Amino acid sequence: MDILQVKDLKVDFNVPDGIVRAVDGVSFDIERGKVFGIVGESGSGKTLTALSILRLISPPGNIAGGSVIFNGLDMLRLDEKDLRGIRGSKISIVFQEPASSFNPVFTVGEQIVETIISHQGVDGDKAKALTLEYLDRVHIYEAKRIFYDYPHQLSGGTKQRAMIAMALVNSPELVILDEPTTALDVTIQAQVLDLLKEIIERDKLSVLFISHDFGIISRMCDRVAVMRKGIIVETGATKQVLGDPRNEYTVSLLESVKALSS
Ligand SMILES: Nc1ncnc2c1ncn2[C@@H]1O[C@H](COP(=O)(O)OP(=O)(O)OP(=O)(O)O)[C@@H](O)[C@H]1O
Ligand SMILES: [Mg+2]
Repeated sequence: MDILQVKDLKVDFNVPDGIVRAVDGVSFDIERGKVFGIVGESGSGKTLTALSILRLISPPGNIAGGSVIFNGLDMLRLDEKDLRGIRGSKISIVFQEPASSFNPVFTVGEQIVETIISHQGVDGDKAKALTLEYLDRVHIYEAKRIFYDYPHQLSGGTKQRAMIAMALVNSPELVILDEPTTALDVTIQAQVLDLLKEIIERDKLSVLFISHDFGIISRMCDRVAVMRKGIIVETGATKQVLGDPRNEYTVSLLESVKALSS
């Protein structure tokens, strides 16, 4: 049973010279409890595809067509109120740059508590306990101190762990991870990937995992779509796509990775 079905999604940008179609008829399904990857070079439309799922595209961009069916509901046709009920609770998203996800003027704890209260309607004490539990779950060892820190006081790795805690704290049905470790140092990146893998497997999460890195895709994803210039050129089981690619562009991307690492 698919938790998400994206069909013929199109995203346009109104630029001074006219209209640019940045996502041009993208279709894919995510099976419940599986990790679906999107891989592709910079500018191929990965982030726009992710943002479209939550209808977070803002002008001059707009969703020009298609459907995004989440649990049988078309996200592109829901009213704002129903949409707000889904954002951050049933579907959550972690971006590449944790600095842009936390508000600098509130402590990390306040922000996680706030998202719990607004979506779960529990009292402050309960929300705080749950926040500390989740900070602990993402292996932040000084959760009680970090709770009172402002985002800028955390290291990049800790901030991204806190971001992941915030994305998981309302037990979402779908988690979107858009290059969740790209901004981190290589060793920290490996630790955060290990953590994500552990949580995804334990909680059997349904995930959309975006990366430009085939190594990470191969480690994290059951299936993968390869994107180029707003189009999915190939979709399949990760092993098949990486081991026996059918599309010329996938072949050339994989060869360029091999050339770099040899
Ligand atoms: N604000 C904007 N104005 C005009 N065009 C835009 C804007 N934002 C995105 N685009 C267009 O959409 C394309 C896809 O952008 P998107 O952010 O989805 O790429 P991406 O695959 O996530 O890249 P990256 O790997 O660098 O994150 C861009 O190449 C650009 O042509
Ligand atoms: Mg992106």
